[in-house]
Amino acid sequence: MVMMLLTMIVGVAVVAAVALWLAPRSRPIRRGVFAVLRWCGPGPLPRHVAFVMDGNRRWARQLGMPGSDGHPKGSDKLMDALEWCHDAQVEQVTVYAFSLENFKRSQHEVDSIMQLAKQKFTEMLNREDVVHKYRFRVRVLGERHLLDPQLQSVMNSAELATAQYDERVLNICFAYTSRAEIAAALLDQARAMQQDTQFECTERTVEHSLMTGASFPDLLIRTSGENRLSDFLLWQSMFAHIVFMHALWPNLSVWHFVRAIMSYQASASSIARARRMHNTALHHHCSSAATLTSDVPGCNQHLPAVCG
Ligand code: FPP
Repeated sequence: MVMMLLTMIVGVAVVAAVALWLAPRSRPIRRGVFAVLRWCGPGPLPRHVAFVMDGNRRWARQLGMPGSDGHPKGSDKLMDALEWCHDAQVEQVTVYAFSLENFKRSQHEVDSIMQLAKQKFTEMLNREDVVHKYRFRVRVLGERHLLDPQLQSVMNSAELATAQYDERVLNICFAYTSRAEIAAALLDQARAMQQDTQFECTERTVEHSLMTGASFPDLLIRTSGENRLSDFLLWQSMFAHIVFMHALWPNLSVWHFVRAIMSYQASASSIARARRMHNTALHHHCSSAATLTSDVPGCNQHLPAVCG
């Protein structure tokens, strides 16, 4: 009986994989594959996926084009990725679109990315755009004040135009680095402590001061063969399953995405165990909170998210 069930599952998985290989752009097949992964995979599907969209310039140069010509292709790929995420029932997508470090690139390249961003955020005002089709609420995270006022304005409009969607969120990190985000969150905490001497700085209060809020990625994918986080979601990646892949971002296919999801599923139980351990430790701190003091007045780093 068990053998029969296993054979059936393997059979369905093989048929789904072959179908996806033959018709990678077919939505029904793609959805079928995600359904197989959901019901037959070794763990749940990720609910929050983050992407470091790396390799646009190398992709363009490989084709003999100037590096910055890769970015429009990269932004098209983001639209594909949003469709895959929607079909896999991912609820939150966070992408690294422009880091504070990227301001150091040539003026020509920075200008071309800003122009592209203006165009993309303007397209999001159109009801036909992917963000409306899949009902993604757009949030821009980063040092917006460093950007051209026109770009800021169209970012605000895109956020407003999608504010009514509550099933899915698309966080676009733009003029962002994680260390700047954490520094700003700590400043926020320091201000709160100044205003209220009873205020306790905890992991939870810091998390609420982060631009992402307290939603952290389950799966983080970085393309282009670079094995580092480059100042992206450093705090938030504590329990993320990180997949570094060789494909350049514009070459990312649904196959790469499916493989990353399978890799996440394979480690889901150890991630769940680590989360449980963390929460148990926090409960322990919680019960002995009265005895815990910190070097920084009012700031007890050990007091946990779960204590509230
Ligand atoms: C990294 O590749 C990519 C970027 C710095 C820019 C990515 C921007 C987009 C995809 C468009 C933004 C879209 C929206 C919706 C705002 P790289 O330039 O570092 O490439 P390389 O690793 O080959 O040098």
